[in-house]
Amino acid sequence: MDLNNNAAASPNARSRAPCEFQSVTVESLSWGAAHISGILVYSAQFKEVLASISRFAPHKNSVLIQGESGTGKELVARALHSLGPVPKGPFVTFNCSNLMDSLAESQLFGHVKGAFTDAREESLGYFRSADGGTLFLDEIGELPLRLQPKLLRAVEGHEIQPVGSARTYKVEMKLVCATNRDLLSMVKDGSFRADLYYRLNAAAIVIPPLRDRPRAIPAFVGHFIEQYNRLFGKHIRCVSQTALDVMCAYPWPGNIRELGHAVESAMLMADGDELGLWHLPVLGENGSDERERSLPIIPTVTIEAAAPIAEEATEFSLEIAIDAASKRMLLRALKAAGGDCQHTARLLGISRYTVYRMVARHHLGSLRDYHSWPQNRPAH
Ligand SMILES: Nc1ncnc2c1ncn2[C@@H]1O[C@H](COP(=O)(O)OP(=O)(O)OP(=O)(O)O)[C@@H](O)[C@H]1O
Ligand SMILES: [Mg+2]
Repeated sequence: MDLNNNAAASPNARSRAPCEFQSVTVESLSWGAAHISGILVYSAQFKEVLASISRFAPHKNSVLIQGESGTGKELVARALHSLGPVPKGPFVTFNCSNLMDSLAESQLFGHVKGAFTDAREESLGYFRSADGGTLFLDEIGELPLRLQPKLLRAVEGHEIQPVGSARTYKVEMKLVCATNRDLLSMVKDGSFRADLYYRLNAAAIVIPPLRDRPRAIPAFVGHFIEQYNRLFGKHIRCVSQTALDVMCAYPWPGNIRELGHAVESAMLMADGDELGLWHLPVLGENGSDERERSLPIIPTVTIEAAAPIAEEATEFSLEIAIDAASKRMLLRALKAAGGDCQHTARLLGISRYTVYRMVARHHLGSLRDYHSWPQNRPAH
């Protein structure tokens, strides 16, 4: 990867001293992005999501939000509420996976006093608690089949009947349901009622996974860096181009939530004003494998001289001894491999990421996107 050529091509590149490498300013990462009700809008697909929010928010119709975990379904539900006709009304959220088998109907629709053995008091249930506002039913695919006709009645007639009550109550609120399951295939296998599905699906918002809009990744990185700068009192001003390349190449199965957590943990590791690759946590369920695949080709690292190894401590500390031994072994391997990170990783039987992280942890100087060791290695 020729970073110098990239530097010339990219308008986002920060100019640096010759021994430094290309990075991108945080400010420029979010160029072209907009914030609407706390939602970062960047890609064309997400503009469609935003258009649907504006279309559905003003009316009291129910809305179904579909999307993988971490794509922002709750954020969209909150936007539907805050941009809707009753933004000052309650926003009540309930996750259908928390329905308790025997109490599920009462949890949603309430009960009258004495409706069952433990019903010592009347309970409003989530529907009546959300009256005059918005009820957000998350993970609607977990709603038991036996309660689905009752939900349909609430959606169509705005009427609910508490357990043990002879009368029905009118409820005026916006119902927003969300799921990360494929409801249509649940309809096909008989675990979700077709009539309820088609009713809910009449106003549907589908949020695309992050891997389908990789061009939005830099904007999200910038968004989260700014957020955590404020939260942690940090001053990260730029991100190395390689760290950005890796984040853009990674498929983010946990979507925006996973990206946010990765930036958060990188920010906790970073001391200066730049986020580098070595600050990023290991991504993916299968540890470094996913990251190893998404890494760019790495040129050889030039080692100027072996960094001195700290004097062995005189006191008995296993931790210090292990640390010194691992540092010595890392330096030996780096020298034997001629600075080639991949070769070093092979010699040590660890991943390249672990090599970068060890270099950073032992303050051996930053690998600066693998090109060379800085001339002025920090004292330690
Ligand atoms: N467009 C966006 N702009 C800014 N932040 C976002 C956006 N989308 C998601 N996020 C952030 O990502 C995280 C996950 O979002 P959210 O909880 O809404 O996802 P979800 O789809 O409801 O996930 P799950 O299915 O796991 O409940 C939150 O911290 C949220 O603030
Ligand atoms: Mg959610």
